[in-house]
Amino acid sequence: MKIKKIGMFEIEKDSSFSARVLVLSAPAAIVFMVLVALGFLAPMYAILSYIFIILFNMIFLSPISLELQNLKKYINRLAAGEDMENMNLSEQEAKDIADAVNSMHRFWVAKTDALEAEAISDAAVLDTLPDPILMIDRAANILGANLSARRLLGDNLTEKNIVSVFDANNLILAVQKVLKKESASENLMFYLPPNKQKIYAHIKPLPWFSKGRAVAVISLYDLSKAVKIEKLQSDFVANASHELRTPLSIISGFIETLQTTAKDDADARERFLSVMASQASFMSDLIENLLSLSKIELLQDELPTEKTDISKIAVAVVDALRLKAEGRDMGIVLNIANKLPKITADSAQMKQLLQNLTDNAIKYGLTGSDVVISIKEVLSIPSSKSFHVAQGKAIAISVNNKGPKIEATDLSRLTERFYRMQAHKNIGIKGTGLGLAIAKQIIMRHRGNLTVSSSNKNGTTFTVYLPLKIK
Ligand SMILES: Nc1ncnc2c1ncn2[C@@H]1O[C@H](COP(=O)(O)OP(=O)(O)O)[C@@H](O)[C@H]1O
Ligand SMILES: [Mg+2]
Repeated sequence: MKIKKIGMFEIEKDSSFSARVLVLSAPAAIVFMVLVALGFLAPMYAILSYIFIILFNMIFLSPISLELQNLKKYINRLAAGEDMENMNLSEQEAKDIADAVNSMHRFWVAKTDALEAEAISDAAVLDTLPDPILMIDRAANILGANLSARRLLGDNLTEKNIVSVFDANNLILAVQKVLKKESASENLMFYLPPNKQKIYAHIKPLPWFSKGRAVAVISLYDLSKAVKIEKLQSDFVANASHELRTPLSIISGFIETLQTTAKDDADARERFLSVMASQASFMSDLIENLLSLSKIELLQDELPTEKTDISKIAVAVVDALRLKAEGRDMGIVLNIANKLPKITADSAQMKQLLQNLTDNAIKYGLTGSDVVISIKEVLSIPSSKSFHVAQGKAIAISVNNKGPKIEATDLSRLTERFYRMQAHKNIGIKGTGLGLAIAKQIIMRHRGNLTVSSSNKNGTTFTVYLPLKIK
């Protein structure tokens, strides 16, 4: 900044200081000129007096000019958002103006803080909404997007035009219609790449009294979830009705026999009723398994967040199944490595997983042998061709039982729904064929893996790998 020094004061060159001094001295100059012209005053005295008046005006005006300039700078810096201490002024009027400016400044700072807090809390409320919401301006530029919208469409949405965010022409046309006020609101369906998610969109202008640049809101609803639920429901009904047909026909066959030929045969009644009871319990197992499979599939896209102690769960599962093992003259040996870290996992699902594997080992293991469960930390998870597996350290849980080797053709199909080995069906071991399908879904949700090895010498070992942290 250019400064002209006048004594102890610093006054900016571009100020109107000199003009103001000259204007103030002008009446005196006119009076002196008239006096000189009329001969009342010698020109020499007139010039000296005029110079004296100019000097007087300069001395009188310069502090005021200086304070005005300081005030101007102070206000400019306040306006630029700088944090300012109170300024030191000597003139009373300047002090009064500074006080007024300060109180105005304080008022606006408080008001801005309140508005900011309101905006933050509005944004937080929008972020809690489960469906994506976008606010757009008159030119269809995105002004704001809630958390759900950012999850669906990616970060850095603000200031992007919707044309660059969506490639669905029907959506873009509908937005333009609303912005041009050709339509009061629009509803439509479109597909979002890359997975062709089916999305329902509702576009509505904001009411006229709403402030700010936002003029319309696009709310989206992810229909793919609803479509998925619909498919799960129809799968459930199809599977349940198919699988329940056999036990139901067995039960109704026995009922008919009991009503007719075996009417008075007490022995037959006893036998038939026990078969019917076991079919009924099979039916309830089946429904329960199918329901839990649907529930797990529905959660498939949600990553678990719980910190879970696998060894605790293993101890509880083993305790609950020990009696069943004793029924087959078997023992359960549980080997847990020291200092096992907790993992990120859904504890209820972990319990179900360990239960299904241990239950199978007891059911299909050699009578009189031991089931051996070992849990330890490993450096990585074997990769899978068909689903995503997390990188890094993991916990490996292996469940071993003795018994004949499972052939490769069976081995590759064990996790299929309803798949049961013929050998086991032949000897009458009951099961729904869903336990391993459920186990696989749980493992996939946790970005882990499941391997099975089987030999006549070592029996069958199912090994579950679960990452310590899911990325
Ligand atoms: N530990 C095991 N040893 C031998 N075969 C097994 C073992 N676990 C599972 N299987 C075979 O895999 C099939 C599917 O298991 P699962 O899905 O748990 O259904 P379920 O136990 O209800 O039959 C079983 O029917 C059985 O033939
Ligand atoms: Mg099973």
